[in-house]
Amino acid sequence: MPGFPDDMPFFDEPSAPPARPASGHAPSGIAARAMAARQASAPDYLAGLNPEQRLAVETTEGPVLVLAGAGTGKTRVLTTRIAHILATGRAFPSQILAVTFTNKAAREMKQRVGMLVGEAIEGMPWLGTFHSIGVKMLRRHAELAGLKSGFTILDTDDVVRLIKQLIQAEGLDDKRWPARQFAMMIDGWKNKGLGPSEIPEGDARSFANGKGRQLYQAYQDRLRTLNACDFGDLLCHPIRIFRAYPDVLKEYHRRFKYILVDEYQDTNTAQYMWLRLLAQRPEAAPPSPQGGGKGRARSNRRKHLLRRRRRPVDLWLARRRGRQHPALRQGFPGRDHHPAGAQLPLHRPYPRRGFPPHRPQ
Ligand SMILES: Nc1ncnc2c1ncn2[C@@H]1O[C@H](COP(=O)(O)OP(=O)(O)OP(=O)(O)O)[C@@H](O)[C@H]1O
Ligand SMILES: [Mg+2]
Repeated sequence: MPGFPDDMPFFDEPSAPPARPASGHAPSGIAARAMAARQASAPDYLAGLNPEQRLAVETTEGPVLVLAGAGTGKTRVLTTRIAHILATGRAFPSQILAVTFTNKAAREMKQRVGMLVGEAIEGMPWLGTFHSIGVKMLRRHAELAGLKSGFTILDTDDVVRLIKQLIQAEGLDDKRWPARQFAMMIDGWKNKGLGPSEIPEGDARSFANGKGRQLYQAYQDRLRTLNACDFGDLLCHPIRIFRAYPDVLKEYHRRFKYILVDEYQDTNTAQYMWLRLLAQRPEAAPPSPQGGGKGRARSNRRKHLLRRRRRPVDLWLARRRGRQHPALRQGFPGRDHHPAGAQLPLHRPYPRRGFPPHRPQ
């Protein structure tokens, strides 16, 4: 996709309809005891982990952040943790939301979890990229975004063509105001979760003789008329739906008992807002597109309460490297918009790729 960043979201819609999520609750009674007994006798999946990895896998209650270098076994923690959650009966496969960035990473994650849990992987409809999960959610609630469930998803070239038409319809010179440039601007706004009414005045004025906002609005209106959306909408529409329809969000709060995120340091603002809405309890304030404001003014006590109200278990896996998530740069626990609330004490680095496994002493 020329002119677009390499980490342009990818999504991969399954052709089969999503598996029906198991209703309600984790297994209890005989089923739970049988699963627990099975796990007590043969937790094979834990065997190859070093002590820090094992700690992260077995710490299933409360938010957990795994921060470690490249190739040191973070994804392995995530996949093994899913296996552990399933094997110990803490959740059904359909009650786990596991997200990553690219199709390749999602396929790899699926493969690795599949090796650990076998057929149960087929019951994990909520394992995938931000965008594959976003599109699944949007199809279920399309009418709340003014779309029909069979909406089409435009690729970059379609978007550029559509914008060019709109620029020409405004009587503007599309050589002076290139459609591709405006497509990138829209993509940038959507990555920040900003709709036409929310973009900064300076941005709005910088394109098409000050008609940036109007053009953005016209673009969104045209998408709706075409029953279509772009990549950015796959997260922006659900974010708006979650905010406007608390009952819809509540449904996902009830559904997801565990949320796991790989490569968390790469989340953009929209992905972060989407995750936070899904992860936090309804009592907490929704995140603003600016990511600060009110939130920053909260007292320490309020922050503490917010952290305690979040989902019982969140796992965020982030690389320790130069380009980090802004919240991670602040140290941890970080600014009040940081979704994770605790850090595992990782005193020793994991073995590097190719090293012999570090065995628990
Ligand atoms: N404790 C361990 N013992 C032996 N091998 C391990 C251990 N942990 C991870 N590995 C292996 O190290 C390799 C890298 O692991 P993994 O992909 O989980 O790392 P990562 O931190 O997620 O990497 P990246 O930073 O590229 O995302 C894999 O082949 C994995 O099987
Ligand atoms: Mg990884």
